Order: sequence, then C-alpha cells, then structure tokens
Amino acid sequence: MTFIAKLYYTVVVNVFFFARFFGKGSIYTMGSDKGKLRHAVIGAAAGIFSSHLPGLQLPEVDLVALMDINVALGQQRAQELGCAFYNDHHQMLQQEQPDVVTVMTPHPLHARLAIDSLRAGSHVLVEKPIAVQVGEADEMIHVATEQQRLLGVVFQQRFRPEVKTARRLLLEGRLGALQRVEFTVAWTRPASYFQQATWRGTWKGEGGGVLMNQAAHNLDLLCYLIGAPERLVAWTPRLLHNIEAEDTAHALLEFPGGVLGYLHISTAEVDKVERLKIVGTAGSMEISRQQALTVRLLDTDIRDFVKTSPNPYSSPGEQQVEVELEAGQGKHVEVYQAFHRAISQGEPFISPGEAGLAALELANGLIYSHYTHSQVELPLNRQKYADLLAGLRDGKGQQ
Ligand SMILES: NC(=O)c1ccc[n+]([C@@H]2O[C@H](COP(=O)([O-])OP(=O)(O)OC[C@H]3O[C@@H](n4cnc5c(N)ncnc54)[C@H](O)[C@@H]3O)[C@@H](O)[C@H]2O)c1
Repeated sequence: MTFIAKLYYTVVVNVFFFARFFGKGSIYTMGSDKGKLRHAVIGAAAGIFSSHLPGLQLPEVDLVALMDINVALGQQRAQELGCAFYNDHHQMLQQEQPDVVTVMTPHPLHARLAIDSLRAGSHVLVEKPIAVQVGEADEMIHVATEQQRLLGVVFQQRFRPEVKTARRLLLEGRLGALQRVEFTVAWTRPASYFQQATWRGTWKGEGGGVLMNQAAHNLDLLCYLIGAPERLVAWTPRLLHNIEAEDTAHALLEFPGGVLGYLHISTAEVDKVERLKIVGTAGSMEISRQQALTVRLLDTDIRDFVKTSPNPYSSPGEQQVEVELEAGQGKHVEVYQAFHRAISQGEPFISPGEAGLAALELANGLIYSHYTHSQVELPLNRQKYADLLAGLRDGKGQQ
C-alpha cells in the first residue's frame, strides 16, 4: 500500500468508525453517571440467562432492567439483582434508554425485539440464531447501520481455544490452499427434551429443527473458519423424533475457490466424536468437542509432490506438530467483554450481525435445498425462502 493510500485508509476508516459508533455519544456521555454501560435484558426468565449473568456483572456494566412476559421469574431475578423489572419491552426501552440490550427470547422474536431496541437507540446483543429467516437478518443489519448502533450475535464458541488457534493457523496459510472440509456432529436428544418446551422443533416456534437450534454454532464455525459456502445440496429429514422440522441434516457444500465440504448433524444419533476436519495442500487439522486440535503437516505440498514424485503410489510424509493453544474458554462472558470493547474502544466485534446472517443463510439454504429437491446457490432468494417457511408453518411441504 502506498503512503497516500495508507493515509486515506486511516482517515476514512477511522472517521467512519467514530461516526458510526460514537455518533450518539461515547459511553461517557450516553451511559450512567457511573461511566458504565447501562444494560437491559429482554427475555430475562430464559433458561440461558444464567450463562449471561457473568457478562452482566462485569465491572463496566450497570444492569438497569430485566424484561420478560414471565412476570413471576423475571421479577424474582430483577429483585435478586437489584434492578427494575418490566413486562413490556416498549415501556422498558422508553423509560430506561439502555446503552445495550441483550435479546434471549425464542428465535422467531429476535428480529422484532432487536429492531425495536436498535430504533430506541441501544446497541443490541442477540442470542443465536440471529433470526429464523434471512430477510429478517437483512433488516436487522440495515436498521443497525441506519441507527449507527452495534448489532452483535452470541457465538461464544468462537472463543474456544482450539477454534481461535485453528483460525490463526488458517489465516497464516499453514495448511496451504484449502481443499476439503468435513463436519460431523451428533447432539443426541431424547423425546423429553422436545417435550420440555413445546416450541422446540416446530416451524412456528423456531423456524426449523437441529439446524436452527443445536447446529447454529457449528454452521457459524464453518463460516468463520472456511467462509460461507457458495453452493449446496442437502437432505434435512426427520429420522427419529416426533417433531415437525428436521432432526438430521446431511449436505454437500462448495466453498469459494472450489473447496469441497461435507456436513452431517443430527439430534437422532449417538456419536461422541464431534469432528471438524480441514484438509489443505500442505496439511490438515481436526477440531474436536474435547477441546483438542490436532495438526498434521506434510513435508511437501501436495501440489509440488504430484509433479515431482517418481513413485506412482506414493504420498508425502506427514508429521503431527505440537501447537500451543490460544487462551479462551468459549463462554458468554467473553462475548460481553468483546462487545464492550467494541462499543467503548472501537475494536471490531468478533461476531457482528453479518456473522449471524452467514450462519442463518446456510441453515435456510440447507432447508430450502431439501424441500425443493435442488442444488442451491447462496445468497438465497429472500422471498422464495419466506414463501417456503410460510408454507411449512401452515403444515404444507411434508417431508
Ligand atoms: N449461545 C448458546 O449457546 C445458547 C444456548 C441455549 C439457548 N440459546 C438461545 O437463547 C434463546 C433462548 O433459549 P432458552 O432455551 O433459554 O429459551 P427459554 O424458553 O428458556 O426462554 C425464553 C424466554 O423468552 C421469554 N419470552 C417469550 N416471549 C417474549 C416476549 N415477547 N418478550 C419478552 N420475553 C419473552 C419467555 O418467557 C422465556 O423466559 C434461543 O434463541 C436459543 O437459541 C443460545
């Protein structure tokens, strides 16, 4: 980059950033008089609330209000935490004007509640999945940009040590040119899991099954480490469970640059091994649920080896290499810390709305491929997906 180009980049990018995130005042002008970020929660009686609590109790946070339609539990939690309670989110936003709102309701409500909060002037951290259909996620991102507020998605698995390390190695090009990715995960669930909450596994209640719920982090990790696929063919059947939507997803994927992939995720199987395997021309790596990262490097890049090896049945030597893992835990509190740094110090946020959209685009694309029996190009046609989902919600399009 020339000196002039660097200067232009620095000035333009910084002016844009400060205009975007500080246009309505820094935390010192918009926050509480304690100079903290004033937080509120929508859906505060949620099961996942306890995972958010450490983030809501960080020193830079002033937790001002909880909101839920479950008054008994919401009020009890608000009392324990010494903050206000509301059962109407409009009233809460108007009276409290929080700097940050976390949304942790069932996913079909994410878009409306996040948009209302952004329009009220708050930064928004929304639980995964960002929404249930891509058109909604587009609108959330559009409103965040228009309101100059930060929209973030809770993808805490990006902070897993092996994920952070894998991403660094990939960015350094340690595997050479990527060739193949395989992701196999079983999130075994008995029927009692679906009976626990009637919205689970239904088209109206969560807009899908395993893809919208358990697999949201897996789809995100694929997009985070490899990039979003361009093309796919998928089968998303209901193999075992008595639910409306898919309990299994099986897909062939094509990523930019011709990288080929395979994905298999199910709540109907038992397989203790979660395996994300990435193969490149210079080596391979495997990430497992047991927080392990195994890296194997070739002594000759396969692109050179095939040209030079005189032995027609040979392959390059391969060594497993020791890799020091990055620090990280994969917990919600790390998402909050990063979100606060993004708001107050201008650090790029690790999982912005666009990351939520990419994972959702993949989930929607897999479901679309199954029901239309077709190969699908991403990005999806928003209207066609909305029509498909509306039909599934009305009981059309049986498997
Ligand atoms: N990041 C993760 O690893 C992770 C893990 C579990 C759940 N989640 C996500 O968190 C969200 C909540 O999941 P859960 O299992 O805790 O659900 P839950 O059913 O336990 O809680 C949802 C809460 O939303 C409340 N609610 C419903 N409608 C509301 C409304 N209109 N306004 C305000 N509150 C309303 C309910 O009363 C309930 O308290 C889901 O989107 C889920 O995908 C994320």
